[in-house]
Amino acid sequence: MKEITMLDLKAEYEYMKPDIDGALQKCLGHQKWIFGPEIAAFEGALAGYLNVSDCIAVSSGTEALVLSLRAYAIQLKGEEYFNKDDEIITTPFTFTATGDAIIRSGATPVFVDIDPVTYNIDVNRIRDYLHSPHGSGRVAGIIPVHLYGRAADMDEVTGIAEEHGAFVVEDVAQAFGATWKARKLGSLGNTGAFSFFPSKNLGSFGDAGMVATNSNETAELVRMLIKHGGRDKYNVDHVGYNGRMDTLQAAILLAKFRYIDEFNARRQEIAAFYTQKLSDISGLILPVAADDPFLSPAPPTRHVFHQYTVRTKERDALQGYLKKQGVSAMVYYPTPLHKMKVFEGRMKQFGNLSISEKAAKEVLSLPIGPLQREEDSALVVECIRRFFVG
Ligand SMILES: Cc1ncc(COP(=O)(O)O)c(C=O)c1O
Repeated sequence: MKEITMLDLKAEYEYMKPDIDGALQKCLGHQKWIFGPEIAAFEGALAGYLNVSDCIAVSSGTEALVLSLRAYAIQLKGEEYFNKDDEIITTPFTFTATGDAIIRSGATPVFVDIDPVTYNIDVNRIRDYLHSPHGSGRVAGIIPVHLYGRAADMDEVTGIAEEHGAFVVEDVAQAFGATWKARKLGSLGNTGAFSFFPSKNLGSFGDAGMVATNSNETAELVRMLIKHGGRDKYNVDHVGYNGRMDTLQAAILLAKFRYIDEFNARRQEIAAFYTQKLSDISGLILPVAADDPFLSPAPPTRHVFHQYTVRTKERDALQGYLKKQGVSAMVYYPTPLHKMKVFEGRMKQFGNLSISEKAAKEVLSLPIGPLQREEDSALVVECIRRFFVG
């Protein structure tokens, strides 16, 4: 039986083999494994692509979030960490790292519910919290997550933040190359935190991440924090980390970066195919309607489909059926953060978060590898149609 996986990293490597092999050979030649020349080259290339003044290559997306938050604790409070009275608003429908980073920065995550159509943070719920008697008046920041590759409403998020004197850290882990009104995600907040986890749209051969910012002060602090907390690592000012990216990962990412726009366009084509072929099935909600501006050919607001996520009350049965047919499909994410033990006693939740809880029971992400062939996408469609229509 033919197997269709979520993503085929071997095929991607074969596609770019000469570029990647050449980059690795160059590293073997110079042997500069820590802060080698590829680090600055990668940072420069990405700063140009995102149109920001500074990019700092770091060890993972999780650390990019923590480093951003730690830099704000130092800048805004003059202290190493936030404290429990400092609140940071985010969505509970995300990967654990988003909320976990807030706890690691010393602050308290405040979870507000999501929009049922985009699965991104509901900006009205952020406003409601800030104006409710539950709002403490100690909101230091907001972390919107551009889930599945689709932008959160950045006009609203940055507007609310400005009104309340809060910073914005964009969690761009799933949205490399996506845009909001022609501006690249990760360049609209005070910092953008990127992940290059292997399965991401731009993926390394291990763990890697990046902080993007237009603030030289923030950039300098992050650069210190990744080197144990000082300009001089043998005489440090702050509680830092060994949080830099390996030269090897930067070399691989630099080689793969050349293909990112092509690969994101391929993801969009597969998404458009799924949407066209599945839109008549009742009981199956697609991530975008056929006339959604996110799908137009050169949209100012561009969805990069890190995931193509459908929704159905029969989610578990559909996933089981697809598995039997050799088609992988995954649930991102089965447990909203406010239901996890780690956040017990360490978070605030605003309202009942029922939209996130319902989404966690109903969402299913379909295979969307950039090199997936049309016949494979057609097979995914055929299996789903057979499940619903017979
Ligand atoms: C939304 C989100 N935030 C943060 C992360 C953390 O990134 P990393 O795995 O590189 O630490 C991920 C991915 O894993 C993610 O999907």
